[in-house]
Amino acid sequence: ESENKFNSIIKTAVDGIITIDTHGLMEMVNPAAQKLFGYAESELLGRNISMLMPEPDSSQHDGYMERYHKTGIPHIIGIGREVSGLRKDGSVFPFFLSISEVQLADRKVYTGFVHDITQQKVSEERLRRYA
Ligand code: HEM
Repeated sequence: ESENKFNSIIKTAVDGIITIDTHGLMEMVNPAAQKLFGYAESELLGRNISMLMPEPDSSQHDGYMERYHKTGIPHIIGIGREVSGLRKDGSVFPFFLSISEVQLADRKVYTGFVHDITQQKVSEERLRRYA
C-alpha cells in the first residue's frame, strides 16, 4: 500500500522526476519528464542523462559527475540551479533543477526534479520590457 501510494505520487507529479545511476544512466523517468522532453519512456531508460541537455553541458556532464565522486563537493545537489533542457525536437527550454542523492543498501542513485520555468521567464521578460 505505501509503495503504491509512492508510485502514484511520482506518476501524477506535475514536475519531471528522473533517477540516474552513478554513471548518469537513466533508471526512472516519470510521465511529466517524458512529456517535457518529448520522449517515450523506452527511448530514455538506460541512456545517459546528457542526451537531455544542450552543449557544452552535454559533453561535460560525465565529467561533472566524476568530479563530484572524486571531491565530494556538490555544485547542484542540495542547492539547485537554473539550467537548459534539450527536447527531442531540438528545442531548448529553461528549468530549475534540484538534485538529491539517495543511498540505497548497495549503491547510490541521484534523483533530479525538473521544474519548467518557461512561463516564468516570459513574464519576467515582459515586466522588464514594459516597466
Ligand atoms: C552536475 C547540468 C540534469 C545529476 C551538473 C553540473 C551541471 C549540470 C552544469 C555541474 C555544476 C558545476 O560543477 O558547477 C545539468 C543540465 C541538466 C542536468 C544542463 C539538464 C538536463 C541532471 C539530472 C540529474 C543530474 C536530471 C539527476 C537525475 C547531476 C549530478 C551532478 C551534476 C549528480 C554532480 C553533483 C553536483 O555538482 O551537485 N549538472 N544537469 N543532472 N548533475 Fe546535472
